[in-house]
Amino acid sequence: MGTKTALIAGASSDIGQAIAISLASEGFNIAAHYHKNFAAVQIIEEEAQKIGVEAGLFCFNLLHPKQAKEMVNEVVRQFTSIDVLVNTIGPFYYQDILEVTPEEWSESVNMNLQVSFNTAYFARDKICASQGHIINFAFSGVENLKAWSMSTGYCAAKAGIAILTKSLAASLASSGVRVNAICPGLIEEGATTELERQEMAEQIPFGRPGRPDEIAEVVKWLVTDSPHYLTGALIPVAGAWEY
Ligand SMILES: NC(=O)c1ccc[n+]([C@@H]2O[C@H](COP(=O)([O-])OP(=O)(O)OC[C@H]3O[C@@H](n4cnc5c(N)ncnc54)[C@H](OP(=O)(O)O)[C@@H]3O)[C@@H](O)[C@H]2O)c1
Repeated sequence: MGTKTALIAGASSDIGQAIAISLASEGFNIAAHYHKNFAAVQIIEEEAQKIGVEAGLFCFNLLHPKQAKEMVNEVVRQFTSIDVLVNTIGPFYYQDILEVTPEEWSESVNMNLQVSFNTAYFARDKICASQGHIINFAFSGVENLKAWSMSTGYCAAKAGIAILTKSLAASLASSGVRVNAICPGLIEEGATTELERQEMAEQIPFGRPGRPDEIAEVVKWLVTDSPHYLTGALIPVAGAWEY
């Protein structure tokens, strides 16, 4: 069993799963959150067992603050500490801003911004106690303010994630907590077809999409080997592509 615990919100996505397995291989116990995809987190549990660290699986709808609180309480009950919180949840919504309803707007913004606030809010005392890390997710180019008329809610929320990340980094610096955001480019996942892969590759200076394990590498580096002075950063992992 490891001595440190990483809570991964959205461990059931390809990127979340890669992060969980990578941190398990570094000796972290893994609190793997999921919403509907139990099969994906079962794989994390199996991998953790092989590696020899403990894994717990936590099913919650994190749009609701009460459920975020309950998740953190259950993780603390099982593992005592929380050293790393990774907020990967951030689904993409593609719809013309002139057709988006208030309900759709709330969903896209809340799934991308409120959820990350909720987990950080309830976990932050524990993360302060362990002088740990919060890692959020935006996208490469998030800092460029421009019109994003086909994904306005998503992009506005990710700009909010950038500000949340920098603000928490500043406010928690004196507690020894580091807060950074990974900014992926176009990442291929299990469901990506060869045609989609080629279309992505054409837009990316590096000539190919990124992989979940490359995102996980950066998360691992941040929490194990990066300089302590690195906080409040928006870190592109994008092959020089920007949205
Ligand atoms: N993939 C890319 O190319 C790319 C590019 C730029 C930025 N990013 C960012 O990178 C991050 C990871 O992206 P991704 O594509 O792997 O995953 P994603 O689609 O952003 O998120 C999927 C995760 O969200 C969980 N989830 C959905 N609804 C939920 C709810 N109500 N409560 C709690 N959890 C819920 C899912 O759980 P279940 O599956 O268990 O239901 C799953 O674990 C995101 O923040 C994304 O915006 C990705």
